Amino acid sequence: MEKFRIHWLGSKGRLKDLFALMKEVPAEERKNFGLVLNTVKQEAESKFEILQRQLENSTGKSSEQIDLTMPGVPLELGSRHPVSIVRKKINDIFSAIGYTIAEGNEIEDDRHNFTALNFPPDHPARDMQDTFFVTEDKQWLLRTHTSTVQVRVMDHQPPPIRVICPGRVYRNETISARSHCFFHQVEGLYIDKNVSFADLKQTLLYFAQEFFGKDTRIRLRPSYFPFTEPSAELDVTCFICGGKGCPVCKGSGWVEILGCGMVDPQVLENCGIDSEIYTGFAFGMGIERIAMLKYQIKDIRILFENDVRFLRQFEGAG
Ligand code: PHE
Repeated sequence: MEKFRIHWLGSKGRLKDLFALMKEVPAEERKNFGLVLNTVKQEAESKFEILQRQLENSTGKSSEQIDLTMPGVPLELGSRHPVSIVRKKINDIFSAIGYTIAEGNEIEDDRHNFTALNFPPDHPARDMQDTFFVTEDKQWLLRTHTSTVQVRVMDHQPPPIRVICPGRVYRNETISARSHCFFHQVEGLYIDKNVSFADLKQTLLYFAQEFFGKDTRIRLRPSYFPFTEPSAELDVTCFICGGKGCPVCKGSGWVEILGCGMVDPQVLENCGIDSEIYTGFAFGMGIERIAMLKYQIKDIRILFENDVRFLRQFEGAG
């Protein structure tokens, strides 16, 4: 631009020379010559102004031009957390047979977590739940299981009911390799006419074989929960050794994966469902426990430390 200005408009520029020629031009042509020269001068000036404006509006210096041959910055994709992988798989398995997903609140009241589920006040089973209370009067708490969501569904929806309830739960336990003060559960509930223990068993066999493999066998052991009667715990044949015995199943060939049972008629009544007409089953499992078995993770705490060296091992896993 500066070259252009000096060449045409400068004090020793071309226009100056041309104007100097004026006196040599014959008198009758001088007027025209002057007009033409003035037009040229105006054009040179306006051209310079336009260039000046363009320079002011341009953002970068020419030295900052993009080098298109430079290698790009890699886009780092995260991976799913093992708890999310397992939760999704469980959700998918039950969705495929008509279960819908229901969610509730992490802060709950006594009725949804305990009373409606047949934990009378002062019942020793309440102690087993190691509850974090939110209020002094113990009426509000952090849910200790997602059975609370089942109560909410039964309160609001007439049977047939077929839901699974995934979510985070809290228990006041000492944090160690085997337990944490929060973890995740998926609980399931099926209520209709004529639902039997055989339906429960078949549903859980289907789940176990979908999740752990077609050769998986199951067994049920009697157990106790206030909200189911009868109650049971479900073991599956060890998916590491196939039942022969190994460190994961501690040599027994079986691993315990969930609690279950027929919904106690009193629980149905507590939630406004006629227990003379309807029956149902429920089950509940800890997602971390299953993830730890599946991926052979020895310490639950590593699941919540956000260490990328751990998390990266699940890239492409689900
Ligand atoms: N709510 C139980 C628990 O958290 C699990 C469970 C659910 C057991 C449904 C039986 C039936 O321990």
